Amino acid sequence: TQIKWNTAQAEKGGYKHFMLKEIYEQPDAVADTLRFGVEDMPSVFGMSGKQIKNIKKIQIIACGTAYHAGLCSKYFIEEYSGIPVEVDYASEYKYRFVPSTPGTLAIAVSQSGETADTIAAMKKAKEAGFKTLAICNVLGSTLTRMADHTFFTRCGLEISVASTKAFTSQLAALYGLAVFLGFQRGVLNSAQFKKYSTEFFALPRLLENTIKNTAEAVKKTAKKIYKEKTFVFLGRSANYPIALEGALKLKEISYLHAEGFPGGEIKHGPIAIIDSHVPVFVLAPKDNLFEKMLSACEETAARGAKVIAVTDKKGAEILGKKVFALVKIPEANSFLTAILNAVVVQFFAYYIADLRKCEIDQPRNLAKSVTVE
Ligand code: G6P
Repeated sequence: TQIKWNTAQAEKGGYKHFMLKEIYEQPDAVADTLRFGVEDMPSVFGMSGKQIKNIKKIQIIACGTAYHAGLCSKYFIEEYSGIPVEVDYASEYKYRFVPSTPGTLAIAVSQSGETADTIAAMKKAKEAGFKTLAICNVLGSTLTRMADHTFFTRCGLEISVASTKAFTSQLAALYGLAVFLGFQRGVLNSAQFKKYSTEFFALPRLLENTIKNTAEAVKKTAKKIYKEKTFVFLGRSANYPIALEGALKLKEISYLHAEGFPGGEIKHGPIAIIDSHVPVFVLAPKDNLFEKMLSACEETAARGAKVIAVTDKKGAEILGKKVFALVKIPEANSFLTAILNAVVVQFFAYYIADLRKCEIDQPRNLAKSVTVE
């Protein structure tokens, strides 16, 4: 038999869309991003021990999906390194009053390195006299030329407008930075450093297992709910920004109304919109906040919501029949589950958009890189 392929199909490597191909590329993309050893950390993050000890504050600036990577990293950078982290949308940062805080390290997170808002925010950080680090996927881009140091996410060319593998690579980079800073500053002892870095370097395998174990379950669930018009995503701690990212992905590629909230905030207003036509995705790994997420499941289910819980084996035993659908991710440390859950929300957005026959790789009104203000 003859296989009829055109160039566009060949570029997609057999996948229906670039977005799906890039979701599946994540274990390799993250493995490439992490292609360095523990001993190389000072050079990949471009900071000596003395510089690290002088950091008083970290200011992250980014847009869109990259902003969510920054917001997620706040949780682990603060816990592992003890350094206060502030995260701003670059478009806000460039116009707001910024107090001069000596010892600030500004980190710009950007796939392209060409986003106008992020460049403007970086300029402002430099003018304030801050040291700068770019976490970027394009070497030689404007941001990497401006920054004092660059961490290169080696995730390869990302074609789909909706960012996937660049996001998980940014998260991996930021997690590595958190562990490295924590050790250098003596907040993490040698045993903790060893434990966290071993888990960290095992991320590609965890991502692979996540993809293997969740794609079908997500697709099956998507078929049951894709006709709804409003979706809610809930998460806490590092999984809260992943809830925001899930909502953003769904908006971007399926043009549906979706919102992400911290699990604990639902009772302070958002619960008013919950009914049987608002599916609720609950990111609930079995960690110290599991019980809280369990009540979020119960409270929303009591209002008729179809609750889709994303959890691990132990969480599934408890959530069992309480929810409309279960998606199981591998067990991992609580912060790393955020990176695994990122893949799950990407799958959700993808399959819902595909069922709704949306232009997944080229969503309306959006550009891959916004180089104007
Ligand atoms: C655009 C894209 C988003 C992306 C954002 C930041 O709005 O549509 O997907 O997250 O820019 O892009 P960057 O290249 O700076 O990561």
